[in-house]
Amino acid sequence: MEATQAAPVKYDMDVVRWFTIAAIIYGVVGTLIGVIIAFQLAFPVLNFDNPYLSFGRLRPLHTNAVIFAFGGCTLMATGFYIVQRTGATRLWSNGLAWFTFWGWNLIIVLAVITLPLGLTQGKEYAELIWPIDLLIAVVWLSFGLNHIMTTAIRKTSHIYVSNWFTMGMIVMITYLHVVNSLALPVSLTESFSIYSGVQDAMIQWWWGHNAVGFYLTGGFLGIMYYFVPKQAQRPVYSDRLSVLHFWTLTFGYVWLGAHHLQYTALPDWTGSLGAAVSLAMIIPSWGGAMNGMMTLSGAWDKLRTDYVLRFLATSLAFYAMSTFDGPVMSIKTVNALSHYTDWTVGHVHAGALGWMAMVSFGALYHMVKKLWNTEMYSDSLVNLHFWVALVGTVIYVVALWVSGIMQGLMWRDYDEYGTLTYSFVESVSAMHPYYVMRAVGGALFNLGTVIMLYNVVMTVRQASANRGTNAVPAKA
Ligand code: HEM
Ligand code: HEM
Repeated sequence: MEATQAAPVKYDMDVVRWFTIAAIIYGVVGTLIGVIIAFQLAFPVLNFDNPYLSFGRLRPLHTNAVIFAFGGCTLMATGFYIVQRTGATRLWSNGLAWFTFWGWNLIIVLAVITLPLGLTQGKEYAELIWPIDLLIAVVWLSFGLNHIMTTAIRKTSHIYVSNWFTMGMIVMITYLHVVNSLALPVSLTESFSIYSGVQDAMIQWWWGHNAVGFYLTGGFLGIMYYFVPKQAQRPVYSDRLSVLHFWTLTFGYVWLGAHHLQYTALPDWTGSLGAAVSLAMIIPSWGGAMNGMMTLSGAWDKLRTDYVLRFLATSLAFYAMSTFDGPVMSIKTVNALSHYTDWTVGHVHAGALGWMAMVSFGALYHMVKKLWNTEMYSDSLVNLHFWVALVGTVIYVVALWVSGIMQGLMWRDYDEYGTLTYSFVESVSAMHPYYVMRAVGGALFNLGTVIMLYNVVMTVRQASANRGTNAVPAKA
């Protein structure tokens, strides 16, 4: 996977270290806001009658924080790390990488200011106002250009599959972000989408699903294909399968957006097409998950002692689970029950907590050890993090699957006179215990991120102290 060179290659790893620490901090903050809004749904009094702290404003802050702050910094840290190590070369431009770091963090700060003020375009996962959208395009392109040019100047013969996934994400997210954000500004903070009605909805969900497909899935698959083999110290099970995985996902995902808009004003055939391709996506998704799992064959015993590997193996199980759940939900008859219910939110968090966050934790722990050339301050704390994260995820997802299916069944139940059996409010009160369970599961998950932050801070301090006393060199 990596070139063996006579002289050790000097890499640009300072910016990777900063992205790594930023990702860990944003992991704590993003999930904390998730816990707050989860408690607000269970106990609405926690909105405190204050618009700035209300659920409606904190919810997009949560999604932006976990997806773009935690997820984005993880993708950029790992992207810059992997492209250098698999290409046996330094970054094309270290200066540009720092521009990306500060630019991305500026965007996060602007999101933290504008979203609680209620400044939003009202498009899910694309809420930020138009001036910030422009900044996102510039900073994202700076990341993309640097990654692609570093790949171009690599010293190795082939491009490792992780870099394919990252570059696929870079190209597609640029395209999706620009097209979905096209708007006519009427003031510094307000604009109108250039699309209207059903076209606007279609473009929005074309963006929405592909943000899931190319960013939350493709980008993190790039992470999986590098860190699973590295941590297991085994080559990836099948290179061919990994390339097939990349091309089938890339071809398939762009057709799926309409499954978010079943039974709407969109032509019926678009929903059917979305559902058909969604179902077909089980094949490449499971092929990829199996490729990751089979990479561990012969190394399963390591799971007993290697806690970092546990995160990575568990993430593969959740990847398989959520890429089964999603296609099933896209079937029209199933969607008739699941849409608008908590089943969707359960599916989202099986993917977000179980897959995307778990694979990130595994990769971040692996990188911390390499970047600071040290062992973790406490392996037991890594183990503790793993268990609270796993238990928290299971509680969260199971609670919402149960409450979602119950909600859907209550809404469609009617008696022999054709009258609805339950009022809407009865369904809301029936969900209360599950909302409390979700908040508790989320709090456990958030506790895990705090444990990780503490452990990493202590690890970095320990590494710095060692460098001072017996001069352990920083390898990377
Ligand atoms: C402590 C952990 C977390 C908790 C307690 C939590 C809680 C929540 C809550 C209460 C909602 C609003 C649901 C609703 O409107 O009914 C939500 C939405 C969402 N969260 Fe989280 N979350 C957590 C972690 C994450 C992570 C790590 C991600 C990573 C991507 C994530 C992604 C999302 C997304 C995409 C939505 C929107 C879902 C939809 O519209 O269906 N969450 N979360
Ligand atoms: C083959 C893979 C997948 C398919 C076919 C799929 C399909 C679906 C479907 C049908 C919905 C519900 C649409 C609705 O009724 O509104 C949905 C929602 C969602 N899925 Fe997936 N899913 C897949 C994998 C994933 C993964 C791995 C993640 C996370 C990492 C994820 C994140 C989401 C999010 C964030 C939403 C909520 C969108 C919203 O309403 O705000 N999906 N998905």
